[in-house]
Amino acid sequence: MPYFAHRRLFLCLSSLLVSTASAVVEVSLSLSVPSNAPELSPSLLSFSIEGDRWTDWTGTTSKNQFLYNALDNLKTLTGVPPSIRIGGDSEDHTNFNPNVEFSEAIFPDFSTTVPYPEATNVTVGDGYYETARFLPSGMRITWGVNFGQDNLTAAFLTARSMAKAFSSPAMKDAGVTLDFVEIGNEADWYINNGARPSNWTSVDYTQEWTEFASNISETVGMSSTSHTKFFVGSFITSSNSTTGFSPQAIYAEGILDSEPGAFITTFSQHQYSGVFSEGDEDLLQELMTKENIRGNLSVHSTDIAVTHSRGLDYVLGEANSFANHGVSNVSNTAGAALWALDYTLFASQLGISHVFFHEGVGYKYNFIQPVELTRSILDGSALPEPVAPHVQPPYYAAIIIGEAIGNSNQTQAVELSIDNSRISGYAFYEHDVLVRAVVINSQAYMKAETTSRSSTHLDLGFLGESESRPTTVQVKRLAIGHADDDSGLTWGGQTYETNDARAQGELEIETMQVASGLDIAETEAVLLSFIY
Ligand SMILES: *[C@@H]1O[C@H](CO)[C@@H](O)[C@H](O)[C@H]1NC(C)=O
Ligand SMILES: *[C@@H]1O[C@H](CO)[C@@H](O)[C@H](O)[C@H]1NC(C)=O
Ligand SMILES: *[C@@H]1O[C@H](CO)[C@@H](O)[C@H](O)[C@H]1NC(C)=O
Ligand SMILES: *[C@@H]1O[C@H](CO)[C@@H](O)[C@H](O)[C@H]1NC(C)=O
Ligand SMILES: *[C@@H]1O[C@H](CO)[C@@H](O)[C@H](O)[C@H]1NC(C)=O
Ligand SMILES: *[C@@H]1O[C@H](CO)[C@@H](O)[C@H](O)[C@H]1NC(C)=O
Ligand SMILES: *[C@@H]1O[C@H](CO)[C@@H](O)[C@H](O)[C@H]1NC(C)=O
Ligand SMILES: *[C@@H]1O[C@H](CO)[C@@H](O)[C@H](O)[C@H]1NC(C)=O
Repeated sequence: MPYFAHRRLFLCLSSLLVSTASAVVEVSLSLSVPSNAPELSPSLLSFSIEGDRWTDWTGTTSKNQFLYNALDNLKTLTGVPPSIRIGGDSEDHTNFNPNVEFSEAIFPDFSTTVPYPEATNVTVGDGYYETARFLPSGMRITWGVNFGQDNLTAAFLTARSMAKAFSSPAMKDAGVTLDFVEIGNEADWYINNGARPSNWTSVDYTQEWTEFASNISETVGMSSTSHTKFFVGSFITSSNSTTGFSPQAIYAEGILDSEPGAFITTFSQHQYSGVFSEGDEDLLQELMTKENIRGNLSVHSTDIAVTHSRGLDYVLGEANSFANHGVSNVSNTAGAALWALDYTLFASQLGISHVFFHEGVGYKYNFIQPVELTRSILDGSALPEPVAPHVQPPYYAAIIIGEAIGNSNQTQAVELSIDNSRISGYAFYEHDVLVRAVVINSQAYMKAETTSRSSTHLDLGFLGESESRPTTVQVKRLAIGHADDDSGLTWGGQTYETNDARAQGELEIETMQVASGLDIAETEAVLLSFIY
């Protein structure tokens, strides 16, 4: 019997208490795990870091304690730190020189629209790879090598240095491992950026990839039993067909059947919701909108199914809100935190095992700014005072996902069917039992809003038979002033916007009867923990 029957009495009372609640939405949760609920990786939300300033993230001769803490917070929640992929545009401009200690990069001039551009030329030495030892133990790394410049010697020398770093006693003591090597970033874009002629096709990609991979697999000691394997693809487009650049095309062209192709265990797709554009007032709401999130991710459904049928894992190896480092006052805001939360959890429902959010020093869409900045991330203007390392609003999405997954090492999640265009939700199960739920209200409440902020009442009901059903629920809220705020969020009363990335403030957890339901405001997310 549905639980709704029991709570009719309470509805009158709760709507008297909360006069702003303008609508009621039914949220039905299955007590036992639905058969289609995927198991979530504890590192579902991971990071991709632009390679040109990698040692700014880690530190060179000692660890960057701020980054370490920001990652360690997440590790504490699930037991496993987020994975990190190092690559991006600068990956295809990286070469090796044994006389360079860490790395030397040449940057183009910055502009108001691109305040922190990628380096056009990066030269690295052994110390560049060795700094990965400063990351939290359990960290799993994916590292890209240069394919764009079609210089096998450059790829070989960097891969050899990488292999040396990861087999060193210092790295083994640190507990940091190399999961994957990636050969080239967005090779499907080479015909646009001049790295390959305009007649270059996925057939050429497959053949050249195989040649590079033969060398690199031997150089890093890949075998059927080695821990390190290949990521393949890292395309920014997909034709969803067996022609053009797509997973379906390269599988059909035999990439998996080649000798090094046997070491491919993952296909990586890149994904942004659009490209850089300023001045669209509705952009933040469009980003947050439930239907758009589903639209942007569902285009990959067939590629995911085909990838799984080949026995491979499918990841978004580089993703974020808007390409070219994000959009000012959109990508760096609280609304983008709600976007990242819904986006990552929805991705898990499609069979995407990891979403690597792209980051670079000074990028607008960062979760973490790992070093002091002296110019504005929004327009490149000189800041009156340097800004210390800090987390940006999307970081809270990583924390919430970590708490929702927890450290059971066997958490499954399913999207809740909620009949509302602004409210989405997910239920989390440990060992078949409903333990938590996340609900997101993605109606953007902006600073310029003149009407009062509305709330929606969530009417909780349970489906299915179970020996016991929860009667009490603990609620943590992601409190946000406005969708376009770039700071000042709190999670369960606590802030992570501190000088050491550790949480500060009194923990605020509301305990309520399941039967009374709860309200969720515009631009808010809640985590419900069920008490049996
Ligand atoms: C990159 O910089 C290095 C060091 O300055 C230089 O030797 C090399 O020629 C440059 N490479 C390219 C492709 O410009
Ligand atoms: C890889 O390529 C480099 C540069 O051409 C070469 O020196 C090295 O011997 C090659 N290694 C393997 C295992 O093919
Ligand atoms: C390829 O990389 C090697 C190793 O750094 C370098 O010596 C060589 O000049 C590069 N070739 C070209 C064409 O840039
Ligand atoms: C592709 O274009 C290059 C010149 O840019 C030419 O040398 C090559 O033959 C072309 N390949 C094919 C298959 O047409
Ligand atoms: C992707 O999201 C953007 C907004 O961020 C939206 O404009 C676009 O229509 C979405 N694309 C699809 C295919 O849903
Ligand atoms: C991909 O293409 C197939 C075959 O045309 C089609 O059935 C499917 O709906 C497409 N998938 C997506 C996600 O567009
Ligand atoms: C972004 O917001 C700031 C205020 O926080 C404002 O000064 C700036 O003009 C805005 N930039 C854009 C591009 O809208
Ligand atoms: C977590 O689960 C995986 C398989 O799902 C297993 O391989 C691994 O050993 C487990 N880890 C722990 C710490 O229990």
